[in-house]
Amino acid sequence: MSRCNQYFSNLYDLLVCITKAVDLVSPEVPNHHWQVAYLSDHIADTLRLPVEQKRTLVIAALLHDVGAIITSLDNFVFLEEEDPAINYHAFLGANLLSDFSLLSDAATVIRYHHIPWHNGQGNSHRGEAIPLLSHIIHLADKIAVRVNRNECVISQINLIKAEIISKRNSTFVPDIVDAFSEICDQEALWLDFVHKPEVPADLSLEAIKLALDEVVELTQIFSRIIDFRSTFTAMHSAGVAASAVKLAELNGMSEAECKMMRIAANLHDIGKLAVPKKILEKQDKLEPLEYDIIRSHSFYTYRLLKPISGFEDITQWAAYHHEKLNGRGYPFHLKANSLPLGSRIMAVADIFTAITEDRPYRKGMSKEQAIATLKGMVESGAISPSICSLLVDNYESVSCMRRESAERAVENYHELHAPKYISACASSN
Ligand SMILES: [Fe+2]
Ligand SMILES: [Fe+2]
Ligand SMILES: [Fe+2]
Repeated sequence: MSRCNQYFSNLYDLLVCITKAVDLVSPEVPNHHWQVAYLSDHIADTLRLPVEQKRTLVIAALLHDVGAIITSLDNFVFLEEEDPAINYHAFLGANLLSDFSLLSDAATVIRYHHIPWHNGQGNSHRGEAIPLLSHIIHLADKIAVRVNRNECVISQINLIKAEIISKRNSTFVPDIVDAFSEICDQEALWLDFVHKPEVPADLSLEAIKLALDEVVELTQIFSRIIDFRSTFTAMHSAGVAASAVKLAELNGMSEAECKMMRIAANLHDIGKLAVPKKILEKQDKLEPLEYDIIRSHSFYTYRLLKPISGFEDITQWAAYHHEKLNGRGYPFHLKANSLPLGSRIMAVADIFTAITEDRPYRKGMSKEQAIATLKGMVESGAISPSICSLLVDNYESVSCMRRESAERAVENYHELHAPKYISACASSN
């Protein structure tokens, strides 16, 4: 595979970002993905799996439940094995991630992470072989959910061990149960599992570098995870990305900067994963507390993106999208001299997209209404006059890009939620 030599970031930093973002959705089970990755890796060690397979296993474990965000299942980690919905999130996650070549092996593992062994029947699903790695995650996941976070973990070991052994061959692969039994008396393993589950350095995940185009591709997948959580937001990031890139081009940004702008737009609302869905979808006037919660989202975007290597500018462009030139924005209350061009473009692209896109409960504004609204914001000193003028002068082309991109996102949303697709996930062989 020929991959670009000019690396921009690395896969590990982006994985950390998305696992932390998923934690915002399910604060009752913090670190779930890290716990499953940690335990899976220890089982794989005992089974003496080669490092390449362990790397795929850990990446899959770190992402195994991302599809649950799109299904909007409450408490997805506690779904019972018999629940017909259980495979839906696994298949959705796999489908999304398989579009990215570096994650295609992990996607196959994720697809089957809830298929029980059933005395050997679970070695295939509808004619397709199920990787051993899926069965490792299946077991690690069940254990992670089984641990009571309010009690001392050491006191739970014997009971958990007995339960897992009782399902040897009926639910779990015998070799995997044996590997787990071999390590499960180690108290230190459980204490690390609870307090600081880490991915071992020997997997060198940081060494998997990503070129700029690969980061664009991967963050496009992340943007679907962010947006497809609700029909109310299903096309938003796609619309913002199309508008922001077009405005960046019109502002004379370089090709690389335009790609960075696309990445920033893909992720600008990643902090919205911290906002409960019922608030995102509320059609009545928001209560002050609900409004405060919404206003926190761009702060979380900042916190999630800042640690990613190569993302110094992207973090500012994405996370400052609700700042205003007059200092009346949020959450940092920055003023014009602290807001780079990329952040000013993102602010205009976000407002333009929000007011012109259709929502389930209202139509988007007409061209005349949108221009009047944007001009009013220029007059109050909120947004950049020059970027607003560029938008007004090129209204048709920016609007067309936004609309086409939003339409593609909506198509993709419906494709993923189609009934025929859901039935294909049914757990029977
Ligand atoms: Fe799952
Ligand atoms: Fe899980
Ligand atoms: Fe926002």
